[in-house]
Amino acid sequence: MIRDATEADLPAILAIYNDVLANSTAIFSETPTTLEDRRQWFRARRDAGYPVLVATDDSGVLGFATFGDFRTWPGYRHTVEHTVHVRADARGRGVGRGLVTVLLERAGGLGKHVMVAGVDADNLTSIRLHERLGFQRAGTLHQVGCKFGRWLDLTFLERRLDERLEPGPARLTS
Ligand SMILES: CC(C)(COP(=O)(O)OP(=O)(O)OC[C@H]1O[C@@H](n2cnc3c(N)ncnc32)[C@H](O)[C@@H]1OP(=O)(O)O)[C@@H](O)C(=O)NCCC(=O)NCCS
Repeated sequence: MIRDATEADLPAILAIYNDVLANSTAIFSETPTTLEDRRQWFRARRDAGYPVLVATDDSGVLGFATFGDFRTWPGYRHTVEHTVHVRADARGRGVGRGLVTVLLERAGGLGKHVMVAGVDADNLTSIRLHERLGFQRAGTLHQVGCKFGRWLDLTFLERRLDERLEPGPARLTS
């Protein structure tokens, strides 16, 4: 089942996040995060009107996904960048695909035009997942990140969400 997360899900989200952080280069950080940090993150997403989704079954939270503004400048307001992480014992059975599929629907529903993923260039599983969902590779920035004592390359993937020819007028207030 995929649903909007609540604050009660944050400990499980934190555990998945810190496990991915400690055991992979999917998150470009080596510093584990805290429940308080996740709470701030969750509230910021909610206040911005953006979704935080969880996939669940009887064993609890299997994975989570969310998006935020791609960049803060107003001209990027039709573009979001997303994140998806699946619990280690739940990978490879469609959870990530399900979460990103619902994220795409939500982003489209909010009138967004493009969704972007920034993926460790060595993370072929994530790149494949996104390509299967219609994302196209847009380019790789080399050695822009580092972790575990080595440089990391970042591959961007993009997916258009609608066929609008023009973005429409700029909002005068944020
Ligand atoms: C990357 C990740 C989100 C994918 O989620 P998942 O639930 O494991 O993937 P799914 O089972 O939904 O598979 C979706 C597609 O990904 C690809 N995929 C999944 N597991 C794969 C594997 N082990 N090797 C290669 N491709 C794989 C497949 O193309 C699959 O589609 P298909 O079965 O129709 O061919 C998940 O493995 C994960 O959280 N990994 C660790 C953290 C991470 O890398 N997060 C992404 C940061 S950008």
